[in-house]
Amino acid sequence: MSTFILGIESSCDDTSAAVIKDGYLLSNVVASQAVHEAYGGVVPELASRAHQQNIVPVVHEALKRAGIDKDELSAIAFTRGPGLMGSLLVGVSFAKGLALSLGIPLVDVNHLTGHVLAHFIQVKGEEIELPRFPFLCLLVSGGNSQIILVKSYNEMEILGQTIDDAAGEAIDKCSKVMGLGYPGGPIIDKLARQGNPKAFAFSKPHIPGLDYSFSGLKTSFLYSLRNWVAEEPDFIEHHKADLAASLEATIVDILMDKLRKAAKQYDIKEVSVAGGVSANNGLRNAFREHAQKYGWKIFIPKFSYTTDNAAMIAITGYYKYLEKEFCPIDAPAYSRVSLQ
Ligand code: KG4
Repeated sequence: MSTFILGIESSCDDTSAAVIKDGYLLSNVVASQAVHEAYGGVVPELASRAHQQNIVPVVHEALKRAGIDKDELSAIAFTRGPGLMGSLLVGVSFAKGLALSLGIPLVDVNHLTGHVLAHFIQVKGEEIELPRFPFLCLLVSGGNSQIILVKSYNEMEILGQTIDDAAGEAIDKCSKVMGLGYPGGPIIDKLARQGNPKAFAFSKPHIPGLDYSFSGLKTSFLYSLRNWVAEEPDFIEHHKADLAASLEATIVDILMDKLRKAAKQYDIKEVSVAGGVSANNGLRNAFREHAQKYGWKIFIPKFSYTTDNAAMIAITGYYKYLEKEFCPIDAPAYSRVSLQ
């Protein structure tokens, strides 16, 4: 008998539902919330309300595209945390209600584990090679910058992480300072393609071990920009591509320096990248260069699995389901916590 898992993701500003059948993705529906654009960042209360409007049609569409009825589901996997509490509660409550009404198990998924296991999403006819344990994962998103040693589906160790801002957060803030839109990541990425990455130099952190720091870079960017604009009011407009390229190159260098160090220290050659920032072209190119130079076998997710999506929640839920790792109906959502 086949195993059908419905995955539900609502941790931030994307409402998503996906169906996995025996490890293969049947559908992945994502409703993004444009309402935050005007505010230059996610407004929690608005996100929560939008999830409430979206959750029923999104789940309905995911089941429809998968070509199954809800009665065929084996279990429901949902993002329990970390994330915005008001957003999480919508997905968590919906998952619990549906599981209870169908009499099927609930599987709770850590959003960050989901990002890491996005590499295991298979699509019929488009099979990919899967990473072998243990492998390294650079998890870079709006809220996290971590180097993770992935020992198995359910055993992960954080080797290093940011002590202040996340890489995505730094990009978004610098983009805001430049007067570009939100989220800044895709805009900086696009602009950087036309600029010179060596045009400007920004400060890099000196943090021991495998940890990251991005707040110094953000401040250096802000202060440099202030000085340049004081001298030339149209400085940003005239140099935005070079600024974006130099900022992106600095962030990619910081990320890759520590990742290289971790790969050497743990003698690992299978290296993956996950999270929203993994959509970045500069970072993807750096991965390809490292593969050539250091003999790494690299795993870069499809664009649609880099930002928040329920396919990664459903695949993580699938592996937990196989281990019968179910969660009680009264399990609360959590806004903060790292892996597991
Ligand atoms: O994983 P994600 O969708 O959300 C969470 O933080 O959980 O990541 C969002 C982050 C944002 O900071 C966004 O600016 C960044 O990923 N991002 C990018 C790109 N696309 C999204 N950063 C750089 N280049 C991109 N192409």
